[in-house]
This record gives sequence, structure tokens and C-alpha cells, in this order.
Amino acid sequence: MPLPALVARVVETLARILPENIRVKHVFEQDIPPVLVDPGQMDQVLVNLCLNARDAMPDGGDLTIEIARKTIQDGGEPPRGDWVCLTVRDTGVGMTEETLRKAFEPFFTTKGELGSGLGLASVYGIVQQTGGHVSAQSEPGRGTTFQVLLPLAPEPPRASVPPASASAQPASATILVAEDEPPVRRLIVESLKKSGYTVLDVENGDQALEVARRHRGAIDLLCTDGVMPGMASRELITGFRRLFPEAAIIVCSGHIEEQALRDVVEKRALRFLPKPFTSRELMDSVALALAKRN
Ligand SMILES: Nc1ncnc2c1ncn2[C@@H]1O[C@H](COP(=O)(O)OP(=O)(O)OP(=O)(O)O)[C@@H](O)[C@H]1O
Ligand SMILES: [Mg+2]
Repeated sequence: MPLPALVARVVETLARILPENIRVKHVFEQDIPPVLVDPGQMDQVLVNLCLNARDAMPDGGDLTIEIARKTIQDGGEPPRGDWVCLTVRDTGVGMTEETLRKAFEPFFTTKGELGSGLGLASVYGIVQQTGGHVSAQSEPGRGTTFQVLLPLAPEPPRASVPPASASAQPASATILVAEDEPPVRRLIVESLKKSGYTVLDVENGDQALEVARRHRGAIDLLCTDGVMPGMASRELITGFRRLFPEAAIIVCSGHIEEQALRDVVEKRALRFLPKPFTSRELMDSVALALAKRN
């Protein structure tokens, strides 16, 4: 997964929704090697770090996002070797030593009712899961810097070796696809069927809920367009969750809307698949969403 493209997309969206007195800058080094991350989860990491930066800068300031290669020489934690380093830096209020020590703890918040204290805990979990490392540096009044080290993706496999991808797992799940554009829907449905999934497909949210209500048996995954005519995807997601609380949900979207972005933060089960996507990206996202649900 090329990190700069993924980060640029989120940064662009954030720049639109953050208050104007926060200047969002990004500094990406050239030729960043691909990293082993799940795009939807990486979005969550970035969004959580950037929203924290926003909260730390009520009077405005600079939010800088950097991507660079980093080589760790002396082993230990993190282990020596090459990493891609994602840095999120703000010029906000900073943290006391005590806050910094507790920042990653689940439910630790200094925001009272306004904070869940789960933002950094989920960042920590996601980064751990990808084999990476996250650290924070901060001082009261001197801003905060978060560094996320991400492992490089392994060299691409030779042609004769089948790629070890999430989509290589045997597929047996029922997937409900809601997508209003026929060619896109066809692409999604065909790829899913080819991988062995059972597919129900509809062209809008109302139909999706209708099908979900009538369906006998389980639906394991809802794959919905983020923007469709008629019922808002938000309503569809809420309704669907009520019917199939255990199911995974993927939202495919050409652009992340503000509300949807909030949902990524609030409802952590939701995944994003940025449009346009390849059939392989779709398959990987589906396999990961289903795996995580179990
Ligand atoms: N960039 C930052 N600058 C200053 N303090 C921060 C920053 N990031 C995190 N913190 C501190 O760490 C605490 C925990 O952060 P975390 O993201 O886990 O929860 P939260 O932001 O309080 O709640 P939520 O993420 O649910 O909105 C925050 O309450 C805040 O005190
Ligand atoms: Mg937070």
C-alpha cells in the first residue's frame, strides 16, 4: 500500500473540515517504499491523531504530517531495520508528563464528557497489529509529536508464487452489495462471486434494508456506496446494524464526507474503501473485514 497517496487523501479531507485557524501541511519524502497496512485502519490512525491535534489547538496552529524513511540502527524496541515513519506534529497545548504516560491507556481522557479516551488506544492497537511502533513526545505549551513506525511490505512475490494475500483465504460468506452505479455494482458483484461469496445486490439503501429484512439466514457483510440517491448511507448502516449486529460493514466512497469521517472514529467497526478501487483491493478489504469480525 503506497502510504503517501493514502495519507494525502485523508489530509485533504481533514483540511476541509478542520477549523480555518489550523494550517495543515504535509511533507512527504520521495520514493517511500510500500508498507504493510490496512488502508481503513490507517485512516483511523490518522484521523484520531489529527483530531487530537485539533483539540489541542483551540486557538489554531500548525498541524504537520510527515512521511519519511527511517533506519533504526540499535536494536531493541523498535527492532533495527528500515521503517516508514509517519509523523503527526501539532503546535498545541502539549501534555504534562503524567498525561503523556497515560495517553495510550483505554478510557484515559482529559476531555471530560467530550472524550471517550479510546482514540489513542485504538491507534496503539492498530499499530501493534501491523507490527509497527507508536510513540509520543510532548511538553506543556510546546506541542506534541506522534511518530508511527510502519513495517515495509515484503518484496513482491515472484510470478510463479501465488501472492500471499488476505483474499487467498477460502470465501464463504453472504455479502449484501448496495451500489447505485450499475457498472461499479457489476464489478463488485462479479469479483465477489468469482471468489466464492454469495452475493445479494441492490441499487439503493431502501432496497438494501428490504432485502436484509427478508433474507433468511445470515448476512456477513454489507458493502455499500457512501453516497447514493434516497436513503443516506448512515441510515442504511444504522438500520442494517440493527438487523445484523455481528456483520462487518465496508463503505466504498470516492470522497470521505465529514459525517462518514466521524463515523470512522465513533464506530470503529466501519471500514472504508476509497474509490476508485481495484478488484484485488476490494477482495482484500472484504477478507479483512470478515476476518476481523470473527
Ligand atoms: N495532540 C495532543 N496534544 C495534547 N494532548 C493530547 C494529544 N493527543 C492526545 N492527548 C491527550 O491524551 C488523551 C487521550 O487521547 P485519546 O485520543 O485516547 O482520547 P480523547 O481524545 O480524550 O478522546 P476521543 O479520542 O475519544 O475523542 C487526551 O484526552 C489528551 O489529554
Ligand atoms: Mg482523541
